Amino acid sequence: MNILILGGGGREHALAWAVMQNPKCDKLIVAPGNAGIAQIADCATLDIEDGSAVVDFAQDHSIDFVIIGPEAPLAAGVADDLLDAGFSVFGPSAAAARLEASKAFTKEICAAAGAPTADYGHFTDAASAKAYVRAQGAPIVVKADGLAAGKGVIVAQTVAEADAAIDEMFGGSFGGAGAEVVIEEFMAGEEASFFVLCDGTDVLPIGTAQDHKRVGEGDTGPNTGGMGAYSPAPVLTDKVAQKALDEIIKPTVAEMARRGTPYRGVLYAGLMIEDGAPRLVEYNARFGDPECQVLMMRLGAQAFDLMQACAEGRLAGARVNWADDHAMTVVLAAEGYPGAYRKGSPIRGLRDYSDDPFQMMFHAGTAKRDGEIVAAGGRVLNATARGATLQEARERAYAQAASVDWPEGFYRSDIGWRAL
Ligand code: AMP
Ligand code: GLY
Repeated sequence: MNILILGGGGREHALAWAVMQNPKCDKLIVAPGNAGIAQIADCATLDIEDGSAVVDFAQDHSIDFVIIGPEAPLAAGVADDLLDAGFSVFGPSAAAARLEASKAFTKEICAAAGAPTADYGHFTDAASAKAYVRAQGAPIVVKADGLAAGKGVIVAQTVAEADAAIDEMFGGSFGGAGAEVVIEEFMAGEEASFFVLCDGTDVLPIGTAQDHKRVGEGDTGPNTGGMGAYSPAPVLTDKVAQKALDEIIKPTVAEMARRGTPYRGVLYAGLMIEDGAPRLVEYNARFGDPECQVLMMRLGAQAFDLMQACAEGRLAGARVNWADDHAMTVVLAAEGYPGAYRKGSPIRGLRDYSDDPFQMMFHAGTAKRDGEIVAAGGRVLNATARGATLQEARERAYAQAASVDWPEGFYRSDIGWRAL
């Protein structure tokens, strides 16, 4: 089969790495890809948020199957355009991807499905939002309704902090995403991510993970896209996972189908778990980045078979071959990230892991310049490994990270501390 992956981060490198191991894959193109992806697949320049451009490209290159990595093309309806043109697609329609693109929509679905989540109010003006905060008290969580690249959530410890966040959102600092604001009850507990394939009707869990969103050691400092992750998440025991499936995910999938907008693709449920009870924090309509890296490390080649079964509505008959292993990824980021950082610094000492089934250096933001790999983003590399235990995976991942010669980069040294 000829397969096209849309995206160019560490998530897409991990997807490409898994797909390439599957004997069904004859040819793989990744758009736009990056310097690491270019070592295993063809990379192409393409506006991946332009549905008709993607359809034309897929037709020109005789593509059989398209995997959509990031949320922006999903929200833009690229899956719809590909389906209309007759392609097999892994990734939800724009209507189904609203589970990520609108927090108010997700809350409405949870209410209709009876799925446990934080109590909330939904506001279109600052005065009523502030009145709600006064009535509820702090801590309280203020969220821009739309896609804000992970930056539209403020966990306010005081009423004054919540007021400032409300002013900022309605003041336009999140653009259109902040024109509507959701204010939520603060949920205590431990967070974990649950990844479930959905084909519109049936669901298949494919793994759990925990990531570290803060930039600094001990989970301190500003939020990032994620500085590392590990799988499985110990807090998501089989019992908690079953509860999340029965109380949150299956009712959501049923409600989406009932509305005529069935969810097809991977549903990433961010859960808050307290005393064995999961509540929904948020949905994402895609794999997490860097959570995808640890999921793909554990699933390997079968990941493609599962994505294909998902796209073709065959999940009822699909199963995962679990290896009962653990995986960890450590993000190497450019000095300054998540604030301003410099691009273009050379990265040396990258080893070739192509023959090693236990580890891989995924590239998140790299480019090739004058024959050399250089940093081209904030999150740049993902040192990823698996092992029989989390400790073993951790040792491999950190040995990999330490072997890179990149003075302008940094990484956290405590990924997985909660689980170890
Ligand atoms: P979100 O983008 O909705 O995942 O929010 C980003 C982060 O904010 C989450 O990963 C949580 O750590 C935190 N968060 C969001 N909503 C809540 C909530 N209702 N209670 C506590 N923490 C929250
Ligand atoms: N690592 C968090 C996310 O992908 O949303």
